[in-house]
Amino acid sequence: TRLFISRDSTALSLGAEQVANAIAKLTADQSQSVQIVRNGSRGLFWLEPLVEVETANGRVAYGPVQPEDVASLLEAGLLDGKPHPLYLGSIEELPYFKNQNRLTFARVGITDPVNLEDYLAHDGYKGLKNALALQPAEIVKHVTESGLRGRGGAAFPTGIKWNTVLNAPAEQKYIVCNADEGDSGTFSDRMIMEGDPFVLIEGMTIAGVAVGATQGYIYLRVEYPHAKVALNQAIEAAYKNGYLGENIQGSGKTFHLEVRSGAGAYVCGEETSLLESLEGKRGLVRFKPPLPAIVGLFGKPTIVNNVISLASVPIILDKGGEYYKNYGMGRSRGTLPLQLAGNIKHPGLFEAAFGMTLRELLYDYGGGSASGRPIRAVQVGGPLGAYMPESQFDTPLDYEAFAAIGAVLGHGGLVVHDDTTNLADMARYAMEFCVEESCGKCTPCRIGSTRGVEVIDRIVANVDKAKNTELLRDLCDTMLCGSLCAMGGMTPYPVLSALNHFPEDFGLHPTKA
Ligand code: NAI
Ligand code: SF4
Repeated sequence: TRLFISRDSTALSLGAEQVANAIAKLTADQSQSVQIVRNGSRGLFWLEPLVEVETANGRVAYGPVQPEDVASLLEAGLLDGKPHPLYLGSIEELPYFKNQNRLTFARVGITDPVNLEDYLAHDGYKGLKNALALQPAEIVKHVTESGLRGRGGAAFPTGIKWNTVLNAPAEQKYIVCNADEGDSGTFSDRMIMEGDPFVLIEGMTIAGVAVGATQGYIYLRVEYPHAKVALNQAIEAAYKNGYLGENIQGSGKTFHLEVRSGAGAYVCGEETSLLESLEGKRGLVRFKPPLPAIVGLFGKPTIVNNVISLASVPIILDKGGEYYKNYGMGRSRGTLPLQLAGNIKHPGLFEAAFGMTLRELLYDYGGGSASGRPIRAVQVGGPLGAYMPESQFDTPLDYEAFAAIGAVLGHGGLVVHDDTTNLADMARYAMEFCVEESCGKCTPCRIGSTRGVEVIDRIVANVDKAKNTELLRDLCDTMLCGSLCAMGGMTPYPVLSALNHFPEDFGLHPTKA
């Protein structure tokens, strides 16, 4: 019998390792033969640790399982998929899973993440195979046609970025994967790297073949030790089987890949400071232009793409740009892996085509708040994203619709707050975070954030309220327009949204906001 228990960090933090050990021990004691596959997570975190068993009718699941449940599960007939209070049936039939559009996450929670044969058996490397039969410009054309935009948050068209690198003449070019996933409430990059590392490796290899880059680096945040292990195991398997290195699959193309660890700075998720860090220097932001696409790593043309952008490329090359483009709305094409976190009943990963409303996601799938109290605000797009009030919950998940109301979709992370959250505290926290994480290169961010904390304190303490509120708005304006990168440039988003939508938390009258 084959059992599946996740090796994903979230599942591990909830006790998946202990559950796997308990099952291995008890079944060995009872001389029952089981094979435990440590796969990625299905992303329904409130059900982790999840145990799935392969039956004649497909996989059935049990969860959340604790080590002390194992004896009763085995007694009830876990290995035959028999009923038990923790029995969930097929995960794929649960609305939370069934109503997703799993394109990028197609294999996560299904395959053994570091088993190349399993990857190949589930459509793995079909995209690269197609890419190797195309001219570089044709590969880029597929990516452009798919409408894929940067999933790190800035949503710049991936095909256009690749085209810039393709057309930049140079002896050496690089592919850099930004895996410094630092936004609060985000974990989709991590889940891909832990749950299906080959799809990222394949995406990067396709990028290398497309623009003529022979070396790639994955810049991985140091807080992701399990992802590092999975990536390195998968990279080793890819090298051994001719999917990395020289003469990939007999094509004459070369692509080498390495994982590099970051050192814990949020700002190193900004592409130019990431490149500085990768070069062994302090993570200071560079001036742009020149763009990294022209003058990037070690001064060479470089594609810097987020994990999800690169991991979405294999399915585009496998099924064609048109296929991917058929999902989504407006200029937001394809799918976005949304991450539900904070005060939410059903936290987890929900990959959906653009266009669903925030309300549907929060209530139909997220199940409302975990505390059972009304949801008051949702911060979308990380610590630099706006706090959205209930009146904005009908906004469709679409880059342009969010931009139109002064919000950002960013990397697709949602942190939910109920009515016990004070938004003035959150605004202050945003400024404090900027103080902590500023690289210090430019004045609006380095000094402005410190002044921001002070001004918010004065407003809340009723010191010259009107004057200080005006000063805070003025300061936000300076940071928005005058900062060199998104760190200082976007800190006003959470601050101003808190001030505009929740003025009462600052002791201000709503009409004066
Ligand atoms: P940006 O708008 O300056 O650039 C977007 C990307 O397009 C960059 O890679 C840039 O080099 C590239 N680009 C622009 N014009 C180009 C051209 N003509 N040819 C080729 N490439 C071109 O945005 P930036 O500063 O890189 O990112 C800001 C975003 O990062 C924010 O929107 C925020 O949501 C997101 N963010 C994500 C975090 C995460 O953990 N994933 C953390 C913090 C912020
Ligand atoms: Fe550095 Fe902040 Fe300026 Fe960005 S905005 S360059 S993090 S000081």
